[in-house]
Amino acid sequence: MPVLAGLPPSGTLAVGDRVRALRAGGRTIFNLAGGAPDPAPLVGLRGPTIAPAENALGDPWGESFLRKAFADRLARRHGVSRSEREMVATIGAKQGVFFSALALLERGDEVIVLDPCWSTYAPSIALAGGRAVPVALAGPDFRLDVAAIEAAVTPRTRAVIVTTPHNPTGRVFGEAELAALAGLVERRDLWLICDESFDLFVFDDNRHLSPGRFEAIRERTILLYSFSKAFALPSYRIGMLVGPEEICRMVAVCTQQLISSVCLASQKVACEAMAREDEWAPALRRAYQEKRDTCLAILAEEPRFGLSVPQGSFYLFPGIQRFGLSSDSFTAHLLDQAGVAVTSGAVFGAAGEGHVRINLVGPLPAIVEGARALLRGLPT
Ligand SMILES: Cc1ncc(COP(=O)(O)O)c(C=O)c1O
Repeated sequence: MPVLAGLPPSGTLAVGDRVRALRAGGRTIFNLAGGAPDPAPLVGLRGPTIAPAENALGDPWGESFLRKAFADRLARRHGVSRSEREMVATIGAKQGVFFSALALLERGDEVIVLDPCWSTYAPSIALAGGRAVPVALAGPDFRLDVAAIEAAVTPRTRAVIVTTPHNPTGRVFGEAELAALAGLVERRDLWLICDESFDLFVFDDNRHLSPGRFEAIRERTILLYSFSKAFALPSYRIGMLVGPEEICRMVAVCTQQLISSVCLASQKVACEAMAREDEWAPALRRAYQEKRDTCLAILAEEPRFGLSVPQGSFYLFPGIQRFGLSSDSFTAHLLDQAGVAVTSGAVFGAAGEGHVRINLVGPLPAIVEGARALLRGLPT
């Protein structure tokens, strides 16, 4: 079978397709599964201008001005020191995931992924000829279980992918967990890929720690960033891959062969966004914390939900076991009976079963309306 013939549609984005189809058929749908970010303080600030001489294919590594600005941001926000030759611009973190897999894997290699995790990792690994091996997060609070990860390591294991802040659980992994994982990666001669796309969304007194700070694994660490989440710029399709120079060189060559170069207008917007980050970021984080707290308070009116307070990212991941339905059936019931779209926890792996994911990306009033409709439409 051709590789692409076996590629499934994105589990998270398929819900959006369904919402669009139902709305086109005239139904009112409350979308708690995705949508346009609100607030999006950078959209429409100033259109980037492209001079006639710039209207050409650019540097496959990403323009130097972008990489310089990103290196500054990494140092300033995360205490991670990397040069311009240790980063490449990508078309969103999605390209970063796939090209990391292409750079690291040989056919049949295994990559340990957390269960649950973002549904993009396994298909990208498979496209690159590898195999995702899920390892469940531990306990109701979804801790990183480094002993279980070590137990899953085989001679074919090449890398571990973690996401922090974590989609879908909202966990922000702590220093002890991440340091233990870094120790394992070093001891067992693996790579660590860390997706930090939600690095801005860390609430209360939690702190985001980038594994880029662990110098001992610097030459075996790839960090992925996105302007879709923390910068609320998903339509610009831009992200950054940070890693050892040799990995970046391979990724840049592959970009040159398959893509030529990342859209210059998006690179300029990303730069402007970073230059003004201190102005807009605190209000953006507060807005998401308010959405999290408001939605949690509404869900808490229903005692059958198993609720925990997400430390970061912008999702709620309530347990729904007490409703007596599978995650897929619960999700289908809400959409059919109440017109409320959420994402089934099963999309994120076997350990996501018994949960649904509520996406807080949309405007607060729409979230309140959606959460109220959800309570009205619950199975009896
Ligand atoms: C864990 C994670 N990383 C990255 C992204 C964003 O990727 P991109 O930058 O390609 O939009 C998402 C989007 O849902 C995500 O959940």
